[in-house]
Amino acid sequence: MCEDMRKEADGNMTFGRLRRLRRTEGLRRLVREHSLSVDDLIYPLFVTHGQGVKEPVPSMPGVFRYSVDRLAEELEEIAALRIPAVMLFGIPASKDPLGSGAYDDEGEVQRATRLIKRDYPGLVVVADTCLCEYTDHGHCGVVRGTEIENDASLELLARTAVSQAAAGADVIAPSNMMDGFVWAIRRALDAHGYQHVPIMSYAVKYASAFYGPFRDAAGSAPQFGDRRSYQMDPPNLREAVREAAEDVAQGADVLMVKPGMPYLDVVRVIRDTFDLPVAVYNVSGEYAMVKAAAQKGWIDEKRVVLEMLTGMKRAGADMILTYHAKDAARWLAEG
Ligand code: PBG
Repeated sequence: MCEDMRKEADGNMTFGRLRRLRRTEGLRRLVREHSLSVDDLIYPLFVTHGQGVKEPVPSMPGVFRYSVDRLAEELEEIAALRIPAVMLFGIPASKDPLGSGAYDDEGEVQRATRLIKRDYPGLVVVADTCLCEYTDHGHCGVVRGTEIENDASLELLARTAVSQAAAGADVIAPSNMMDGFVWAIRRALDAHGYQHVPIMSYAVKYASAFYGPFRDAAGSAPQFGDRRSYQMDPPNLREAVREAAEDVAQGADVLMVKPGMPYLDVVRVIRDTFDLPVAVYNVSGEYAMVKAAAQKGWIDEKRVVLEMLTGMKRAGADMILTYHAKDAARWLAEG
């Protein structure tokens, strides 16, 4: 703004009064720039092997692992809250070096998908496509020695995606960070008649300490080394644009940034650089921190959660994967 406008007739400096539009809730509602809606939310679900299982995840209060036969109680609640989508993670009975549980047509994600599509056809099923929950070494791909092999992993990821699509998954969400995974999965889906199934790529996924509670929940911590040779280095932003550009070129339909809170600058850049819908994953460690502080009475959980999720919208996300989805949906409905 031009400095002259700051001068009054007598030549003295003056100032603007931004508080005028903050005086009442009615005014604040009128000038509000972003909003959070239940339509933005995707709720992650852990589906475990066995029967009659509803197990709490200790580091994620309020989150449970369900066996397929107990999933209905959770789905009922999700449907009643009008949450549009769930993201499915599977916890198999046994793991092996090639993660064969991931592409087993009778696997947990496949069976849960069939159940949801039968009983809640309107609920969008997003299938997480990765091997780490299914491999005995806990890595997201095929291991040779201490190396995570890129191209050998692609074949297994493609098989997993086809098996998930065959079970009825509405969206395939590959999270493994191998180079070329969108290309490999798109080709395989198309070859099997699933041209209509979109890919939500975990395009920009950092090697983050915030995944700790998830790895407890899914039993997917790497048994040696870490994921830094495939997930991104947290200080990098330009590289995030290259990762996303690759996935766009390979045929991704939605771009995801993960984690959320510490990476909202990345969300903004991805939003401004590409025209695809952008998702952000508010991950397990972010959830655990909020829950722990809330349990101690140190923060107001409702306000903190709604502020965080709104911040993700403001950063440019179109949709948010969050373990807070059910609470947020309830709070949003209360008004
Ligand atoms: C699987 C996967 C992970 C998460 C989502 N998909 C874990 C990881 O990469 O180790 C993390 C989700 C969360 O922390 O909530 N590759």
